[in-house]
Amino acid sequence: MLIRPRRLRKSERIRELVRETNLTKKDLIMPLFIEERIERGKREIASMPNQYRFSVEAAIEECKEIADLGIPGVILFGIPKKKDEYGSSAYSKDGVIQRAIRGIKEELGDEILLIADTCLCEYTTHGHCGILRDNKVLNDETLKILAKIALSYAESGVDVVAPSDMMDGRIRVIRETLEEHNYQDVCIMSYAAKYASAFYGPFRDAAESAPRYGLKDRKTYQMDPGNWREALREIELDIEEGADMILIKPGLPYLDILRLARDNFNVPIGSYCVSGEYAMIEAAAERGWINRTDAIMETLLCIKRAGADFIITYWAKEVCEYL
Ligand code: PBG
Repeated sequence: MLIRPRRLRKSERIRELVRETNLTKKDLIMPLFIEERIERGKREIASMPNQYRFSVEAAIEECKEIADLGIPGVILFGIPKKKDEYGSSAYSKDGVIQRAIRGIKEELGDEILLIADTCLCEYTTHGHCGILRDNKVLNDETLKILAKIALSYAESGVDVVAPSDMMDGRIRVIRETLEEHNYQDVCIMSYAAKYASAFYGPFRDAAESAPRYGLKDRKTYQMDPGNWREALREIELDIEEGADMILIKPGLPYLDILRLARDNFNVPIGSYCVSGEYAMIEAAAERGWINRTDAIMETLLCIKRAGADFIITYWAKEVCEYL
């Protein structure tokens, strides 16, 4: 007798019944770029069609729409007016992200989970995620600044800080600083396994955060794409130091890392489907080489199947239509 797994694929109804992984709106987090120079409205990002940089006002409106769609959260990235060597506008009380956090919280309260990417690269003249001296990104000097940024976001009312810098020891310093100032309830979502990837290109255009001088890449602090054992080590350290949730980044090229993380740790794990992944599918679809919607849905479903509890994706808003 022939064994026939195909019987379970006979119709969409039976496929639905036996599908092991289902994507829902509640799995999604939408990234938002907020630019200090924009006074009102939004501007499309050249390297990321259908993605925008928002003014603070427009970002608040956007968050309302996102919350109405049923998406649980947004992650904020700021593009400041002024950059300097130390990224000091990242921790300014009236910085673009601080203003956005206050504004969004005032309008929406707990209707949306507010996550703030916590890093220096958008705020430094050199474009690195830490203090640059003699062509080196200094670890310990950077920690103090990261803690200041995280504290400043907490003071503005953020729910979650998401350090994406990859300095050693940052989670501990941020956790201690938050505790000292009585922000016990602020979560840390650490980019625990963040690789030195070519897939961040369009984001760096969008956020004006490409390395400009000094080192020309981030390989001395972000992870080497060939390594998986090291990811275990990074994740373990971040959890020990006080991370509540972790991220694996990028998404599709690193599904093995996601699965590995899922099998080895019990904290919530997110995957960041990054700008280059977005750009690839958008560009191929524009040429008619793939079916855009199908490719997007498959991408997100597969990230979930590999072990993600949630996914940061530029398609979050759009896919709500299909879910
Ligand atoms: C900041 C940061 C980056 C991304 C998220 N946070 C860029 C980088 O590390 O250069 C990339 C996100 C994307 O490509 O969509 N450090």
